[in-house]
Amino acid sequence: RKKLYPALYRLAVDAGRTFPVIGVASSPWDDAKVRDYARGAVLEAENDIDTDVLDALVERISYVAGDYTAPETFEDLAAKVANCTRPTAYLAIPPFLFDDVATGLGSLPVHDRLRIIVEKPFGRDLASARELDACLHKVFAEKDIFRIDHYLGKESVESVLVFRFANALFEPIFNRNYVARVEITMAEDFDVKGRGRFYDEVGTIRDVVQNHLLQVVALLAMEPPAAADADSLRDEKVKVLKAIAPIDPAHLVRGQYEGYRNEDGVAPDSDVETFVALQLEVNSWRWAGVPFHVRAGKCLPYTSTEAVVEFKEAPRMLFADPDVASPDRNHLRFRFGANDGVTLTLETKQPGEQLHSRPVDLRVDYAAALGRRWEAYERLLFDAMEGDARRFSRTDAVDEAWRIVDPALSHAAPVILYARGTWGPAEADAMLAGEGGWHEPERP
Ligand code: BG6
Repeated sequence: RKKLYPALYRLAVDAGRTFPVIGVASSPWDDAKVRDYARGAVLEAENDIDTDVLDALVERISYVAGDYTAPETFEDLAAKVANCTRPTAYLAIPPFLFDDVATGLGSLPVHDRLRIIVEKPFGRDLASARELDACLHKVFAEKDIFRIDHYLGKESVESVLVFRFANALFEPIFNRNYVARVEITMAEDFDVKGRGRFYDEVGTIRDVVQNHLLQVVALLAMEPPAAADADSLRDEKVKVLKAIAPIDPAHLVRGQYEGYRNEDGVAPDSDVETFVALQLEVNSWRWAGVPFHVRAGKCLPYTSTEAVVEFKEAPRMLFADPDVASPDRNHLRFRFGANDGVTLTLETKQPGEQLHSRPVDLRVDYAAALGRRWEAYERLLFDAMEGDARRFSRTDAVDEAWRIVDPALSHAAPVILYARGTWGPAEADAMLAGEGGWHEPERP
């Protein structure tokens, strides 16, 4: 409701694309009901509606009611997609249905021209992800499977790649010789928003670290790709993920906001984390010894997602103000949220008689500089229908990401409670005490 129908509407507006959309689910809905629902979803999400476009979109939406395990469901669907040139199946289903649905889709007469988009969570751990993958590969070739990680469809996230490899300026210093540490924060000021049942099965590590945040790490840490095509880009991502050691539970803090256990659908004794702070070791030639710190959580003070690359200090701090205990290091901040853009914080002269330095920001706001950009789901649905896999996770990358987080899922210490509206448990701050603490994310 929040992402897909608005994305279909935007595709119709921005790319002039409309196509038949067929909902398939067990609820006893019909065409009229799903059309109403879709219209409502678009009206909620968009301010300035083009009614003709919306009417045209909605008219082409229909519904098949049926059980995913029943062959008749797929017979009904087969009749609807018989004339489609390039049907794309979008699966947002619990993992236990993968096998049945893949088999059902494989039985469609159009199956050899079908592409499938798979929504996360893609497994619960390395072993289950491999099982799911085997289910899909029984029926579909890897080139036809599009695993969604909506972070890869965000313009602000993809800009990291372009920022690093389209500018000659930063690449020579993006390594262990010049970078002291890298930090990623994904802070959300809201709770599980009625998704307690889902969230309690998942937790922060599975929900956003295994996928979104490891993708950001890969973009920050990967080597220059040989070319900008899907395989060259994904080869480099997999290579850097392979260099990341499994999370050491000694460098992991899991937190849970107070009151989480009272949320609907959450077990009263739940040990599921709603906050995590951890350290990653990227053992590549470029990054060995540079810590990558990652934290993410719900009910934090405000919503902000960003990555900070902190550079080492100058060899001699000639202009340090003796009244400032630890002068700022130069840092580059990639902002991915509502305030997306990039900020480079540098030292300049503090006005006055003394030759002292102070930090200033060189700041670019992408919305102001670049205007409106496509939303992640709009981009990803378009790409999948075009067969463009550049912004989708390949099976080997998913596998590596599970390998990295697996010890954090199985060998972690119990969660530590934290008050809503704080930056998680004090133990997370203690992790970076020697480094001057976490950078305060920019408030959008
Ligand atoms: C989703 C998670 O994948 O990403 C949510 O399931 C999270 O828990 C969301 O809130 C964040 O996405 P965005 O685009 O709002 O940063």
